[in-house]
Amino acid sequence: MANTMQCTLPVLMALLAVALVHPSAAKTVCTLSAVAGVVLTGTCSTNGGAPTNITGAGSSGVLPGTTITYSVNANARASRFVCASNNDVLTFTASVWSDQTFNICEPSLLEIVGCSGATVANSTFTGITRNIAQPGGCAPSKYGPCIAVLGGNRQTGNWWFFSTSNTFTSVITDLSTTGVTRRGGAFALDRAESGGKMNVLVVGSTFTSVSCDSGGSISATDADLTVRNSTCTSNLAVNGGCIHFQSLQKDFLDGILTYAIRKISLERSTFTTGTANNQGGLVAVYRGNVSISGSTFTQGEAREGQCVWLNECADYTEDQIVGNTWTECSTTFTTWCRANNGNVWTSCGVEGPPQCSTQFPSPPSPSPSPSPPPLG
Ligand SMILES: *[C@@H]1O[C@H](CO)[C@@H](O)[C@H](O)[C@H]1NC(C)=O
Ligand SMILES: *[C@@H]1O[C@H](CO)[C@@H](O)[C@H](O)[C@H]1NC(C)=O
Ligand SMILES: *[C@@H]1O[C@H](CO)[C@@H](O)[C@H](O)[C@H]1NC(C)=O
Ligand SMILES: *[C@@H]1O[C@H](CO)[C@@H](O)[C@H](O)[C@H]1NC(C)=O
Repeated sequence: MANTMQCTLPVLMALLAVALVHPSAAKTVCTLSAVAGVVLTGTCSTNGGAPTNITGAGSSGVLPGTTITYSVNANARASRFVCASNNDVLTFTASVWSDQTFNICEPSLLEIVGCSGATVANSTFTGITRNIAQPGGCAPSKYGPCIAVLGGNRQTGNWWFFSTSNTFTSVITDLSTTGVTRRGGAFALDRAESGGKMNVLVVGSTFTSVSCDSGGSISATDADLTVRNSTCTSNLAVNGGCIHFQSLQKDFLDGILTYAIRKISLERSTFTTGTANNQGGLVAVYRGNVSISGSTFTQGEAREGQCVWLNECADYTEDQIVGNTWTECSTTFTTWCRANNGNVWTSCGVEGPPQCSTQFPSPPSPSPSPSPPPLG
């Protein structure tokens, strides 16, 4: 049946909607809270209509006027929202989760699945712990304890997820002993089964004392990721103290195996005091088109790549690393850390496997500035 409602949308809204999703989008805004270990309560409202209450264990349903299904986990604290159409625009705002401890198998506190235009804004996660208790031998979750954003096979076109002005503080994922790698202490971003391109923008978000196995704060798999005006402090992981980024999707081009390389762009952000047991004290990239600008990297620790670890030589493009400051990273300089493009390298912030050091022919120049010409 034809929908004539779309003609009544204001022009700006329509332009935005065209850019994101089908023009007759239903705009749903939810505010949830699960505070001080207490169960989840909240409301969602679509196009400013009557709120739907979302409360406690087992509550589930379809949000009126949308194709969004919600369900609250048996633990009464974790909720899952599944969009069945690209017309659903879903926003979580002013939401609070605090002092929650749950086991290794329970789902993330907020799971957003198959939604092509979802946003989490103005929300906080504080004092969240995923421990390693595994009651009844349940199957461990592969995601961190806060937010998982996952693609669905219905999504064949480009889709978006936005994080704006969110704060994550003291989010602990106890290091797994089960062989399962949990991803993303704050955000687990995974294109998963979607055929379309996943785009993620994280703006004005703060991550303090956040840990997980892969990507202390953010793990991105097969997503184009931009992190802008954000701050990561005291993060911990096995790989990627703050961010773990990987392109895993395989394409066969004329029968030749290639990977669909995703873009990671770090802009005007601050990364301080990160630790990775293995690679990338602050950031680890496993296949990506990497851009880093106007950002500050300070004090990373790792077995390899104290601050930023790029696992593939091709991930590094000199003119895409611009205007950054690198302090207390590695004391050993490679050709990737030389005076160029406004970077201040008091230590070497970008590292990769040894063979990458020959990528640029000229030697590193951590040398002092040239002596002034003799006077007179
Ligand atoms: C939703 O919750 C509010 C506040 O607890 C209550 O007043 C209202 O009746 C509830 N609405 C429905 C439809 O249950
Ligand atoms: C977040 O808060 C800011 C400032 O109060 C507000 O302008 C913005 O609309 C909020 N974002 C959302 C998605 O509600
Ligand atoms: C950057 O993010 C902070 C919150 O972390 C916010 O207060 C500030 O307005 C943002 N600045 C810009 C230029 O967006
Ligand atoms: C990486 O991304 C930049 C910026 O979008 C683009 O110009 C460049 O061609 C890409 N590089 C590769 C190797 O795909």
